[in-house]
Amino acid sequence: MCGIIGIVSNKSVSTNIINSLKKLEYRGYDSAGLATISDGKINEKKCPGRVEKLEKILFQTPSRGNLGIGHVRWATHGVPNEVNAHPHSSEIVSVVHNGIIENSDELKKELEKSGKTFKSQTDTEVITVLLTEKLKKLEPLKAVFETLETLKGSFALGIIFKEFEDFIIGARRGSPLAVGYSNSENYLGSDSYALKSMTNKISYLDDGDVCVLSKDDVKFYNSNKDKINKEIFTLSEDKSSVSKGNYKSFMIKEIFEQPNTTKTCLKEYIDKIREEINFYNLPVDPKKINKVVLIGCGTAYHSCLVAKYWLEELTTLNVEADIASEFRYRKVKFDINNLYIFVSQSGETADTYAALDLCKKENAKTCSVVNVVESSIARHSDCVLPIHAGPEIGVASTKAFLGQMLVLYLLSLKISEIRNDIEHKEYKKKIGELKKIPKLIAESLKEEEKIQLIAKDIYKSKGSMFLGRGSSFPIALEGALKLKELSYLHAEGYPAGEMKHGPLALIEDGLPVVVIAPKDKYFEKTLSNMQEVIARGGKVLLLTNSSSKVISENIRFQINLPDADLTLTPFLFTIPLQLLSYHVAMFKKCDIDKPRNLAKSVTVE
Ligand code: M6R
Repeated sequence: MCGIIGIVSNKSVSTNIINSLKKLEYRGYDSAGLATISDGKINEKKCPGRVEKLEKILFQTPSRGNLGIGHVRWATHGVPNEVNAHPHSSEIVSVVHNGIIENSDELKKELEKSGKTFKSQTDTEVITVLLTEKLKKLEPLKAVFETLETLKGSFALGIIFKEFEDFIIGARRGSPLAVGYSNSENYLGSDSYALKSMTNKISYLDDGDVCVLSKDDVKFYNSNKDKINKEIFTLSEDKSSVSKGNYKSFMIKEIFEQPNTTKTCLKEYIDKIREEINFYNLPVDPKKINKVVLIGCGTAYHSCLVAKYWLEELTTLNVEADIASEFRYRKVKFDINNLYIFVSQSGETADTYAALDLCKKENAKTCSVVNVVESSIARHSDCVLPIHAGPEIGVASTKAFLGQMLVLYLLSLKISEIRNDIEHKEYKKKIGELKKIPKLIAESLKEEEKIQLIAKDIYKSKGSMFLGRGSSFPIALEGALKLKELSYLHAEGYPAGEMKHGPLALIEDGLPVVVIAPKDKYFEKTLSNMQEVIARGGKVLLLTNSSSKVISENIRFQINLPDADLTLTPFLFTIPLQLLSYHVAMFKKCDIDKPRNLAKSVTVE
């Protein structure tokens, strides 16, 4: 998704803009650009493709200037090419934009009627044209406020003006925007991560806010144009480094980090001395909760689904899991005694944020499970439960999924204990079992070589299926999502018991079918479903526990995972699925960390 940078300084800014744009690459993009001002001129450079290409252009023809804006674009209006790339500049003003201007067609038609012309197919260019007109009569801040009044939709903007070489204006409605502070230099950025290499002092714009950044000062205004003060946050330092190390990709590094990330997370939440789970500041007394509603997108939604099984199993609560993009538009009945839990790695996902916003407007009690603690979702929920996984760079979510499940499991257990839904002895036993997770994950990772051979066997297939029952059903969904997003191989995740109601028709000779069958209460039934698949020619990969002792010569591949407490199954059975999707994608020579068409942080709906 698009990302914005702005820097105003007492020295040349283009190199730092490029470096910050590289930090925004994780969001996914298809073109890049920058504009600086020097000698009373706007210097605009942009290109389709990667930031490296833009860097080469700058190397050949440097852009001078102590103030500038930069952008990585993820195409929404108009194909990814040089003209549609941001910034969009006129003779006197240059604009970068993240978000969507919903009334851009209407505005464009009106402007065209009055003789204005457009170079690009983007929605953003209307902002440039409107500002250019208004600047004929108004000073920049007033021109920005008047322009914002005509815009519908969501945006984060960075704007520079040819006549004013000493300030940048930023504005936020919907899309996130942060300001960073340093000596004789201030910054604008789509997220704090992009600014982290330059500063750890950050403020966040709220909806409707506008800011004016000069090198020694930042002024903030709210939507009523009143001057306001902003809190300055000091960012935490990342313990894990954002480099691939000796690994071939971030994704495989992140898969192998999971014994450590889960260990860190457990340390954060379990009091070693008292053997107790610590959760402070839950916005509602667990004894008074009526219903828990879990909301997320993609992989985060799958962790919500797993948590639904856990909460139902461990507590007497009603539980719902919902996809954010559906939740936000349904006629949901809110209840002040419900707890709404928002799950998001990035904490910036537009649909999840909009669902949270809806809950806030209804005065509902909210809680977020995020990896990025400085994110919009974290800052706007009543209580934040970080997953402590460290930066996740690969677009395919892996260690964040395990982190989300871990925090949701800890929360389920704690709620169950507070409500007296679980016996104290059992509660303590489960805490003891939880502490084994990092070691069990490390053991499961040892299956990699075997999984690589399986990947070699199936990577040329046209499709695949993933089956499971109970909490293994969302794991099947996650396995299928991972395989399709990384290797572009069609994959369907299904509850094993649903096969006979339609999907069984898809089974043909040699179709790879992954059957997730831990030794739980569904075990026998899942194996019967597996036999139905085998009978129709399906090539089965069975994932089960070491003690299951399944012997069937018709099972093509079998991975035995360590025996463990049954509630831990989702953690262990996810590992081979992550490795399978990684190795299939490797055989297919796919871009592991940046799968086609996808973005790490989905900030448009
Ligand atoms: O940052 P979030 O967790 O809110 O992102 C949600 C989804 O976009 C994300 O999980 C997506 O499905 C992943 N690419 C899956 O690997």
